[in-house]
Amino acid sequence: MSAPSWYEDVTPGRGVLPPRAWYAHSDTAALSLDGTWRFRLSPTALADTSFAAEGFDAGGWREITVPGHWVLQGKDLGTPAYTNVVYPFPVDPPRVPTENPTGDHLRHFDLPDEWPGVGGAVLRFDGVESCARVWLNGAELGEFKGSRLPHEFAVGPLLKARDNVLAVRVHQWSSGSYLEDQDQWWLPGIFRSVTLLHRPEGAPGDFFVHASYDHTAGTGTLRVECDVPGRVTVPELGVDTATGEAVTVRVAPWTAETPRLYGGTLTTAAERIPLRVGFRTVRVENGVLTVNGRRVLFRGVNRHEFHPDSGRRIDPETMRRDVELMKRHNVNAVRTAHYPPHPAFLDLCDEYGLWVIDECDLETHGFQRVGWRGNPVDDARWTPALLDRAARMVERDKNHPSVILWSLGNECGAGAGLGAMADWIRDRDPSRLLHYEGDRSCADTDVYSRMYATHDEVDEIGRRADDGPAARRSLPFLLCEYAHAMGNGPGGLSAYQRLFETHERCQGGFVWEWIDHGLSHPVYGYAYGGDFGEELHDGNFVCDGLLFPDRTPSPGLLEYKKVIEPVRIAGAGSGTGNTEGGAGDTVRVTNLRDFADLSDLAFTWSYQIEGETVASGPLQVPALAAGQSADVPLPSAPERVTAGERTWTVRAELAADVPWASAGHEVAWGQSRVSEPVPPTPARGARADGTGGRITLGPAAFDARTGEPLTIGGIPVTGLRLDVWRAPTDNDNGSARRPDERYGPLWRELGLHRVRHRTDAVSLDAEDAADPGGDTLTVVTRVAPAARDLALRTVYRWTSDGTRLRLTVSVTPEGEWPLPLPRLGIALGLPARMRRVDWFGGGPGEAYPDTRAAARLGRWHRTVEELQTPYVRPQENGARIDTRWVELGDGKSGLRIEGDPAFSFSARPWTDEALDAANHRSDLVPGDTVRLHLDHVQQGIGSASCGPGVLPEFLAVPVPAEFGFTFTAPGTP
Ligand code: GAL
Repeated sequence: MSAPSWYEDVTPGRGVLPPRAWYAHSDTAALSLDGTWRFRLSPTALADTSFAAEGFDAGGWREITVPGHWVLQGKDLGTPAYTNVVYPFPVDPPRVPTENPTGDHLRHFDLPDEWPGVGGAVLRFDGVESCARVWLNGAELGEFKGSRLPHEFAVGPLLKARDNVLAVRVHQWSSGSYLEDQDQWWLPGIFRSVTLLHRPEGAPGDFFVHASYDHTAGTGTLRVECDVPGRVTVPELGVDTATGEAVTVRVAPWTAETPRLYGGTLTTAAERIPLRVGFRTVRVENGVLTVNGRRVLFRGVNRHEFHPDSGRRIDPETMRRDVELMKRHNVNAVRTAHYPPHPAFLDLCDEYGLWVIDECDLETHGFQRVGWRGNPVDDARWTPALLDRAARMVERDKNHPSVILWSLGNECGAGAGLGAMADWIRDRDPSRLLHYEGDRSCADTDVYSRMYATHDEVDEIGRRADDGPAARRSLPFLLCEYAHAMGNGPGGLSAYQRLFETHERCQGGFVWEWIDHGLSHPVYGYAYGGDFGEELHDGNFVCDGLLFPDRTPSPGLLEYKKVIEPVRIAGAGSGTGNTEGGAGDTVRVTNLRDFADLSDLAFTWSYQIEGETVASGPLQVPALAAGQSADVPLPSAPERVTAGERTWTVRAELAADVPWASAGHEVAWGQSRVSEPVPPTPARGARADGTGGRITLGPAAFDARTGEPLTIGGIPVTGLRLDVWRAPTDNDNGSARRPDERYGPLWRELGLHRVRHRTDAVSLDAEDAADPGGDTLTVVTRVAPAARDLALRTVYRWTSDGTRLRLTVSVTPEGEWPLPLPRLGIALGLPARMRRVDWFGGGPGEAYPDTRAAARLGRWHRTVEELQTPYVRPQENGARIDTRWVELGDGKSGLRIEGDPAFSFSARPWTDEALDAANHRSDLVPGDTVRLHLDHVQQGIGSASCGPGVLPEFLAVPVPAEFGFTFTAPGTP
């Protein structure tokens, strides 16, 4: 057997320089080598390296853009592949398959005229997946692994003024691939920048900015270590000191809420490097993680680097957009799952204010499938590679105030290699805390971290009543992943937030994850696993973000924004939105921030009748300090003669522009109901008339045989019947971890997607027994799936006052129901032209019983198309909760439906069956009918696609139920 090639040995590389701090620019010259390169793809790892020789003619090669992944740059360049846990190649570490797509990259370049002569220079690669072997002007520089880490080579003596030739060979697979088994697309290529940096004689090899904050004294201490002598100046602080010297001055601290950075300069004989200093101190004190002496609560997200067109090649605008979107949605923390991000992203976190868990480029999850045999983190031969990765992360990112925890990696099991990494990091940077989730002994960490723990378990941990090692109970707790945002959901966020606010030790969490990794596709819209013919794949598990692939916020992000809002505004009533606390005509405002007061916010009040704002004005709220509350008086309720439900809405907006949003941006809101919903007025008394196979009752005509309505107010109505099924969400479908909560398949097995409706009786009765005539059309049915002896006995009672038509539905379960229902309501078809929708209820967005915090009571308008939430894999979506009434119209006629009690509605241009059958958005084609669902109950959503299921209070357990709707056709007699 031949000896493994360099890319198959366990070493991290050869010929590279020691890692050092990354900074965007200094006063030394730099030349970007990004742009168009020559490229050749081979299906296997070639031995021939002649392309790297000077004079090689690559004129026949195609062109490619660097940075970029080659599989995203041409149909003939291979395809992306998605797996979550499993390696897409045989597990035989450190060997990789012979089929090892290999990209040879070539680029000629001249030095710019102003380049300061030949001499010291380094060539920097910010990210290459999965490894690279590099030549400059025919001389081999070396090779490296570690895809999302920087690597530099000293190249000074090799540079020429003109026609330098840089040759880079990249293999898709290497021993490093075993360390990079993150749940994402496998995307080979030089995907981050390549830069030539001038390094004049005497320029620093590296520097380390230590900037701590003493909250008791209000002072910061700055010390910049540097391997060459220099001076450190921070003019704003009057600091002018030698490198290595500590200086203590009065400063404003850096926090994610108040990201105060001080501009400075590190001046050495050969280079002036701009510094951005943020003073802060991170500690664990009495079992609580503190920054600057205060407990912090992480309102976090896990961010993979992703763009639907360019994969992990992220441009600066996209990074900025991510940070701005996070800030606008009240997110205050990011875990860089599961590798160090592009370093410029951390500059933005420093600048805008986000707490960062910086995670090492390390995951060996696929070894779990083979019983963890051969796991690199438990095999000393790999330890140098692990240490190299730890060092490259820490050295690159150590000067960012935003980074407060280092994470050893993700899902690697346990082993001595992790301990070695932890020891090295602790020694090099004792100022930050260590995170790793995969080892419950917490041997190497400063925090107890878990993913997808249930609410009950978090509560137990919060009470320090969990079992496990005693030492672990003295650690702060965080959920490095929770609330799996796959498809519709996640549900249950509010309940988690209550736990984080109740238990001091529970310091929040990081939703999995920030963005759907759907790749742009000419037919499907967005592609997911399997769409490229991968032999092993994990389907749409790669689309589990709070943003759609195009970075439009999904309803999940809007829900999260509301749940984690930094100001709680709680009124008197119990309406949609906030419900707690407060006395009659005051509103209770609580500053839930950790540091900042409320002086940056302007508050307003408004008063609604039936969802229409009739009066509004500014509300004076004191600039409460972090953690404080106040009862703020509301003005006297505006007098109006109009009848209707009354609400107060109080909003907190930015008082002035900030870097991430303009003045007026809404940060938080609360609503309270002053009066109860006004039930629809009774509709009875009109006589039914049955002739010619039809029954007429008020504005409606029915089929006398089936009892089904045919028209209401002249508008055709089709297929009105009990509705108990929904196109399963990803969370309904659940995961193998909780077989009892895989409701999607269980509902199907029970046959809920194909229930039969038997009509047992259609009769005209009198509601009043003394009345001999017929004013009530009663339709008795039995709704049941084939092959089962259980049923829902359903009675429809129709009455009218001549104009209004009232339906009361009574449902009685028969037999042993083994499962909760997806929903319980009725559905009906209307002509497709009825596509304008107005409603009074929760909105404007989608909401289910456990994803409803962001739904506020109001008057809303959408078209049927706009009511659809375009999940990448189509599934149940678009329900509007707490609806008092909804009206569908075509601009001329309309059908209005009032609920008693309030209901949830959805309206789609296709059936639930079509929605269920669709795999991609492109499979959904509008038909000639709008399907309108009027639900008395919908089951909650949960997050069982990876985490816990629906909380018991949100399960739609079959019980006897009665609910009513009143139909009117405005404009008809
Ligand atoms: C976690 C893992 C993530 C992702 C998530 C499910 O176990 O750390 O990378 O796979 O589950 O989407």
